[in-house]
Order: sequence, then C-alpha cells, then structure tokens
Amino acid sequence: MAARSWLLLLCLAATAGGVLQVRAQPDSQGFISIDCGFPGKTGYVEDTTKLWYATDDGFTDAGANHNISVQFMTPRLGKRYHNVRSFPDGERNCYTLRSLEAGLKYIVRALFLYGNYDNLNRLPMFDLYIGVNFWTMVNISDPGGGQLTEAIVVVPDDFVQVCLVNTVSGTPFISALDLRPLENRLYPQVNVTQGLVLNTRNNFGLTNETDIIRYPDDPHDRIWLPWVNPIDWVEISTTSMVQSIDDDHFDAPTAVMQTAITPRNASKSIEFSWDPEPQPKDPSPGYIAILHFSELQLLPSNAVRQFYVNLNGMSWFSSGFTPHYLYAEADYARKPFLRYPQYNISINATANSTLPPIINAFEVFSVITTAIVGTDALDASAMMVIKAKYQVNKNWTGDPCVPKTLAWDRLTCKYAISSRPRITSLNLSSSGLSGDISSSFADLKAVQYLDLSNNNLTGSIPDALSQLTSLTVLDLTGNQLSGSIPSGLLKRIQDGSLHLRYGNNPNLCSNGNSCQLAKRKNKLVIYILVPVILVVVTVSTAALLFCLLRRRTESRGNSVKPRNEVTGYVPRNNGGRMPSSSLQLENRRFTYLELGVATDNFRRVLGRGGFGCVYDGFLENGTRVAVKLLSKSSKNQGDKEFLAEVYVVAQILTRIHHKNLVSMIGYCKDGDNMALVYEHMPEGTLQEHIAENSSKRFLPWRQRLQIALGSAQGLEYLHKGCNPPLIHRDVKAANILLNARLEAKIADFGLSKAFSRDNDDTHVSTNTLVGTSGYVDPEYLMTMQLTTKSDVYSFGVVLLELVTGKPAVLHGLENSSIIQWVQQRLARGDIEGVVDARMHGDHDINSVWKAVDIALKCTMQASVQRPAMTDVVALLQECLELEDRHPKDGSMADRFVYATGGDNPSSRIPAMDTSTGPAAR
Ligand SMILES: *[C@@H]1O[C@H](CO)[C@@H](O)[C@H](O)[C@H]1NC(C)=O
Ligand SMILES: *[C@@H]1O[C@H](CO)[C@@H](O)[C@H](O)[C@H]1NC(C)=O
Ligand SMILES: *[C@@H]1O[C@H](CO)[C@@H](O)[C@H](O)[C@H]1NC(C)=O
Ligand SMILES: *[C@@H]1O[C@H](CO)[C@@H](O)[C@H](O)[C@H]1NC(C)=O
Ligand SMILES: *[C@@H]1O[C@H](CO)[C@@H](O)[C@H](O)[C@H]1NC(C)=O
Ligand SMILES: *[C@@H]1O[C@H](CO)[C@@H](O)[C@H](O)[C@H]1NC(C)=O
Ligand SMILES: *[C@@H]1O[C@H](CO)[C@@H](O)[C@H](O)[C@H]1NC(C)=O
Repeated sequence: MAARSWLLLLCLAATAGGVLQVRAQPDSQGFISIDCGFPGKTGYVEDTTKLWYATDDGFTDAGANHNISVQFMTPRLGKRYHNVRSFPDGERNCYTLRSLEAGLKYIVRALFLYGNYDNLNRLPMFDLYIGVNFWTMVNISDPGGGQLTEAIVVVPDDFVQVCLVNTVSGTPFISALDLRPLENRLYPQVNVTQGLVLNTRNNFGLTNETDIIRYPDDPHDRIWLPWVNPIDWVEISTTSMVQSIDDDHFDAPTAVMQTAITPRNASKSIEFSWDPEPQPKDPSPGYIAILHFSELQLLPSNAVRQFYVNLNGMSWFSSGFTPHYLYAEADYARKPFLRYPQYNISINATANSTLPPIINAFEVFSVITTAIVGTDALDASAMMVIKAKYQVNKNWTGDPCVPKTLAWDRLTCKYAISSRPRITSLNLSSSGLSGDISSSFADLKAVQYLDLSNNNLTGSIPDALSQLTSLTVLDLTGNQLSGSIPSGLLKRIQDGSLHLRYGNNPNLCSNGNSCQLAKRKNKLVIYILVPVILVVVTVSTAALLFCLLRRRTESRGNSVKPRNEVTGYVPRNNGGRMPSSSLQLENRRFTYLELGVATDNFRRVLGRGGFGCVYDGFLENGTRVAVKLLSKSSKNQGDKEFLAEVYVVAQILTRIHHKNLVSMIGYCKDGDNMALVYEHMPEGTLQEHIAENSSKRFLPWRQRLQIALGSAQGLEYLHKGCNPPLIHRDVKAANILLNARLEAKIADFGLSKAFSRDNDDTHVSTNTLVGTSGYVDPEYLMTMQLTTKSDVYSFGVVLLELVTGKPAVLHGLENSSIIQWVQQRLARGDIEGVVDARMHGDHDINSVWKAVDIALKCTMQASVQRPAMTDVVALLQECLELEDRHPKDGSMADRFVYATGGDNPSSRIPAMDTSTGPAAR
C-alpha cells in the first residue's frame, strides 16, 4: 500500500522563510511546532503553513544538534529535516511540552529523517513514549526517507513529555515534533486510558501525489496524503463546500472531502488493504479504521448510490450505506477489529444501487494503552522546576518515578495501586545548589524527608515548607542561609512533627536579638532554645527551659543571661520561687552525679530499650525510680538538635499525666549525659508476664482484660487528650509496664518520635522504620505515614498476645505473625485453639471472643477500617462486663440463673438457647 511512499513525499514539501521571536509554548491555536536540532534560540515561520517553528531550546536540555549529511540535502527537502537532535547519552531523553490543558485530547506528531547525520551510516532503532506510555518503535529503514509517527491521546496534565528511549539499537534522534489540540468530541475512541497511533491517513481523488493537505486547510493540521491509483480508480470532485453533519466526530476538512474515487470498472468494488505492524510490546496491535464518505454528485431521482463496506469479506453493516450530498459522514470502528494477519477493505455496491461505490478519505489507527499513570502532576512539575532552577546535573529525565527502573536518582517514590506515585524523599545534599530555596520544594506535598545540606543555598528559609504536613526531616545544614527560622517551622519543631537541622549556616539567626548572642561562645544554646522560647508559652516549659539554660551557662561560666527572652516568668530552680501562674513544674532536674548516687552507680539494669538502658534506683526520700540513660550513640547526631528534641520530649512529658501513662519524675541534662527519670514499675513489662516461659506471676483473663483496658485508656489519652495528638509509634507488650497492683501504664511515649535514629545519625532516611517488628502498621510501611491508627494496629497485636499468650512474631517453621496465626485457627473454626492454654478455660468464651474480634478489627490492613482508641476502650469495657458475669469456681448454676432471670433449675436447658444469656451467640 501507499503508506510508505507518502513519508518521503512529506519531506519534499515546504521550505522555510522568515524569522520571528522565540517561543517555547503553544501559539494562539494551541499548536506547538518544534524544529528539533535547529541551532540557536530563535525559530522561524514556515512558508506554506505560515506556522511558527520553534527551536528545541527550552523543550529539552539534553542531546546535541547535527546537520544531516549534504548528500541528503535535496533542494526541495523541508527545512525541518536539515538538522536533528540526537541523544547519545542516557537511556531516556525527553521533550517537555508545557502550557497544555489537562484532560484534553492532543495530536502528537514526531518526524524523523536520519540523513546520515552522524556519518556512521547505521540506521538506528529506538522506542518512543508519550509520557510514561509506550507509543511506538521507530525503525529507520531508509537514510533519506522521512518517517512520521502520530498519536492522539488524552493528556492528563498541563504538560506532556515525549521521550526517546535507547534500546541499544542505535542512537535515538528526532527531526521535528508537533502538538495540536483537539476537542474532546473528536476521535471518540480516544479516552484517558486508550490512545490511537496513526497507521495511515489518506485523501482519495487527487491526481498529483504532491498535493498534501494540512493546516490551514485542515484546522487541526492533520496531514492528509493523496492516494493515487489511476488504473483502478476514477476521480470525482466538486468545488462546493462539503459540510459536516451534526454530531461529527472527525471534522474531515472540506478540502479532503471535495475529492473522491469510484472504481474505473463500475461493476467492481473499491479495494485496499493494510498489514499489521507488530510492536515490541504489542505483537498484534488492534486496529481501528475510519472511512469518510460524501456524495459529490447531485443525483437524479431514479439514481441510487448504495454500498456495503466489508472487512476481510465481512460486512460492517447489515444494510447498505448511502452517502449524503455534500455532507461529510464517517463509518468507523468504535472498538479495535479482531486481529488478522492482513486487513482487506472492499466497498461494493448493493443490488439496489445504480451507481458504483465511492470513498473520499480513509484513516487507520492502531490502539495503544495510556493507562500507566506518571508521578503526581504537582510533584512532577515541582521536580522539573527544581531541576531547571538548580541546573541539576543528574540523569533526571522524563517522569521522576515511572518506570521504577528509570526513577530519578536521589529521590524516593511511593507507589500505590489506586493513585499516582508520589515523591516521599529528596536528597540533594552536596549537589552544588546555589541561589535561594525554591518555593517549588513546598509543592512536594508528600515529601517526608528533604535534605538540602552542604550546598551553597542563600536567602531565607521559606515558611511554606512548614505546610508540608508529611515532612518529618528537613536538613539545611552547611549552607549560606540567612534570616531567622520561620514561625511555622518552629511550631512544627515544637509539636514534635518535624526534625529540622540547620547548623553550619553562619548567617542564620534565630531572631533579631540573638544574632549578636549567636556569635558568642554559647551559640549552641541560643540557636536552639531561643526560638523555642518565643513559641512555647506554657509556664512549665519556659521555666524548664530557663533551668536548662541557666545550668548550662553556669557550668560553662558564661555570662550570657537570657532573661529578656523569658520576661514574665520567674523560674524555679530546684526549690526556688514558683512562677506566678497556677501551672506547676513538677519535673525535677537531676545532675549526673545525683543519678549515679540514686542508681548505685548504674548498677542494676531493669531493661534495655532503643534509646539506652534503664536502671533501678532510689531517691533520697526512698522513692523508687527507673532511670533511662540515653545512650551516647543517640546523641551523636549533633548536640544542638539533640537538645532541641529532648526539650520537646521533656515538654511533652511535663504536661502529660494519666493513670495509665508512666509518670516522669525528672530528667537530666548534664554535659553529655542525658537521662529521663520515671516512676518505678515493680511488676516489669507485660511482655515478661505473658511470655510462654515466664517466671512472673500468671495473669488470669480478667487481669489481662484490665491491663488491655488500662493500656487502651492510656493510648486514648495520648490520641485524644493531647493536642496535637501524640502518636506513640512503638506500642508493644514490652512498652506496657505494670505496677504493684498490676495496673498497666504505657511507657516510652514521645521518645520514638524524638529519638528514632539512635545508631546511625549520619544516615537519616524516611525509610528508617519506627516501631518493632510484628507490631508495625502495614499501611505505615507502605505510605510511611504514621497516624493514630498505627498505634491502634500495634495495640491490636498486644491484645492478641494477651488472648493467646504467644509473641507478636511466632518463630516456627516460617516466621508468621500472630495475626495470621489467629486467623488460620479461626478459619478452621478452632476458637478455643487460639486461647492461651494456661488459662485452663477459666474465662468467659464470649468475652475472649469479643476481645479477639476487637483485636482483628484493630489489625485491619486499611487504617480507615480500624476503630479509634476511644471505640476500643468502650468495646473492652463491654468485654470486661461479659467476663464479670462469668461464674467463677465452677458455680455453673449461677450462669443459668442469670441467663433465665429465675432460679428454677428446670429452666437450665432452654436457657442455653436464648439469645440473651452470656453463653449464647
Ligand atoms: C549546519 O549547517 C549550517 C548551515 O547550513 C551551519 O551554519 C551550521 O554551523 C551547521 N551546524 C553544524 C553543527 O554543523
Ligand atoms: C476507554 O475506552 C476503552 C475501549 O472502549 C474502554 O475499555 C476503557 O474502559 C475506556 N476508558 C475509560 C477511562 O473510559
Ligand atoms: C504536481 O504538482 C507539482 C507542484 O504543484 C508540479 O510541479 C508537478 O508537475 C505536478 N505533477 C503532475 C504529475 O501533475
Ligand atoms: C458485496 O458484499 C456483500 C456483503 O459482504 C456480499 O454479500 C456480496 O456478495 C458482495 N457483492 C459483490 C458483487 O461482491
Ligand atoms: C433494496 O430495495 C428493496 C425494495 O425497495 C428493499 O426491500 C431492500 O431492503 C433494499 N436492499 C437494501 C440492501 O437496501
Ligand atoms: C542515574 O545515575 C545513577 C548514578 O550515576 C545510576 O545509578 C542510575 O542507574 C542512573 N539512572 C538512570 C535512569 O539512568
Ligand atoms: C560554594 O561556592 C564556592 C564558590 O562560589 C565554592 O568554592 C564552594 O565549593 C561551594 N560550596 C559548595 C558546598 O558547593
């Protein structure tokens, strides 16, 4: 068929003239036309179409310009083919077309003429993508022949990228690139998930093969190539306007519709065919054909032109088709045809027809999927701005996250099934960035970790960064930033949701006054503490801070007295005067020496946690305490930040009081030594009690339920009683402590937040897992987003431990979680099998059942399906009521009495069947 030769013809069309201004965006019709490889920044107006052809400056930042070899520079070769841009480096290189309308259909067209531009005489092959979706394989078969590929797609964003992907079969290059908008009513086969790739677009009825119709004759600038076959076909034409019908889906231009063909032998049919073109990723593409018809002759009343359209011998319509006089109509496939080795179209007259069949124009497309979604549009746009602003010299091309194999270096993406990938971390440390901090960083709404350390960034820190609600680590150390830390960020530091590092910025001051102080010896303290003072206005914290500051200055013999900053508060210094406010500062500050005395030189280790060891001790007045000495390794991350974090923790702990939370008695910050002093919990951890080989006192079910309820109430308080809600982050049996009355108290809250990075302070990553294996919320693992529901999940695991007496992770043939273990047994109907055998059946099975049910709700995969801690508390109270109705010591009769509401023993059996009794389900 003719599809090959017209490619060459295209190259012959149009040379160029005039020079105008630079443009890297659509013109007034929304067209973008790029002469790839044209030198400089200024384009030109093309002669025949009068369209502006831009250079590719501003559309791509990779590759090199080349002229094609002189032997292919024929006089009539279009100017666009005189040069190419080639991409010898990198696997993927892209053009970015901007200022589009998201959700609109566009024609994207790329043209290629090799012309031995590299003097290698090797015809390359490479892949072409629209955004992240495969478009077509470009296989250059003729060095002097132009090749055109066109696609119609819905563009999901306000930009689209066209990417050339090196498939190790030659260097990708491109001669020209066009983009044309289409209204969404056009080409109804194209939707968000499906695009069309042009196979051929032909105009019938012309006699001269060079008569190509495009803009302005076709307002959409489709390229209609003549198909001339004088042997088999007779041309008919009109000079009258051919109108489009209502509800037209193709807008075939009148210039195309004004010519048509009929068979030279009137009794014959019109026949043509095309072969499928296998693609690497689609060996048998689906095809769609669109046939354009219009009657061009005013027929006498007794004449009939009626015909069938057949594909491979099968008729498209059951009845014949009669085109209307001077109206353009199309017969088209809505869905791809069945796959055939060849597609033969024949148009034959029906028996009733007095005239031979006719056809005016013809288009064939193959179908491609555009269902793969790229990175979230805002994230992607922000990254492109950042890349351009800082001239990031990395292999950052195409979509930042998709495909995974080509994801940009130095960033981490989060991939979810139902939404577009998001950027969750960006590490641009030591990347030679200069200039100010781009506001585009604040558009990375899902970013959790942002590292801009060790660059030459100047200017102030944008407060907009505080709006990044997912951001947990912001590293700005080692830059030339100036100004003060914006209040929004200070708030985030204060509420513990953000970890900010900003050391080594000589010009950065915490506020106007402290700039001078900062130059003095103790800038360490001022840097961190002064901004916090200004934000935090509770009496207790200000007083605490003052103590901290004063101790420090005293110990260093420094004369700075930051009294100005705490005006209004008279600090209490271990027995000094109280602030005039009614709030009491209950926490005591210990020296390291005092703790040494209390713990008998840190003799008895009560436990080891993620942050260091816990020691047994006694205060002067005989109060027994647990001293949590923070390990040195957790401090290496920089004294400043550490101080700030301890400050936050101390502040949180000072304010939090609940019967189910371990109380803090005091703290120690003495030189390098940091410690937190808690009330002593003589019965140790819950874990010790329920462990299978436990030497501790056995816990009966009711006790377990009470521990569960108490722990739930403690967590509820953290979630509901604190503003902002405090997420524990590490709920587990080992963090639930028991006092002498076996009452549960939650420990370690607030700490995980502040000190989740103990051992490796240089390598802070959002991928650092917070939590303990077996207890970690799977949704958090996937999204890296911690919520109160993550605590609910962990609590559910604890509840299962209480029921089963098994650890969170069962070490058996294969490590399995307690959740799976329970679910497998329940699936088999083995209810009693999940219950800790050590309880010897001395429990109300309904109460246990209900607890299992609560635990399974808490450990649902999707956090939205989990109850809130408040609901858990209410449900556990119901459990406890069920258990309290359960008769103890074998007094079975009581049970039936209760169930029937009477005391007649004869009612025992029926009572079992009522639904009111505790035994019934
Ligand atoms: C390409 O040819 C033009 C003139 O035709 C010349 O000015 C230009 O320098 C050439 N470019 C290269 C890269 O050879
Ligand atoms: C697009 O069209 C195809 C074929 O008709 C269909 O299967 C698909 O569901 C459509 N996609 C959308 C998003 O409508
Ligand atoms: C086709 O048109 C071109 C330019 O319009 C002309 O030079 C050429 O002679 C024509 N060819 C025929 C076969 O008429
Ligand atoms: C025309 O096509 C129809 C439908 O496929 C077929 O039934 C008929 O035999 C064909 N007629 C001729 C003359 O080929
Ligand atoms: C041909 O004409 C007859 C009589 O008018 C009609 O019944 C028949 O359906 C027509 N055939 C077609 C294919 O339209
Ligand atoms: C980008 O460069 C890095 C380091 O040079 C390399 O590890 C990575 O594979 C490259 N990625 C791509 C998509 O080329
Ligand atoms: C900052 O810029 C100076 C010169 O402008 C350069 O010497 C220095 O290496 C840069 N520092 C970093 C971290 O890029």
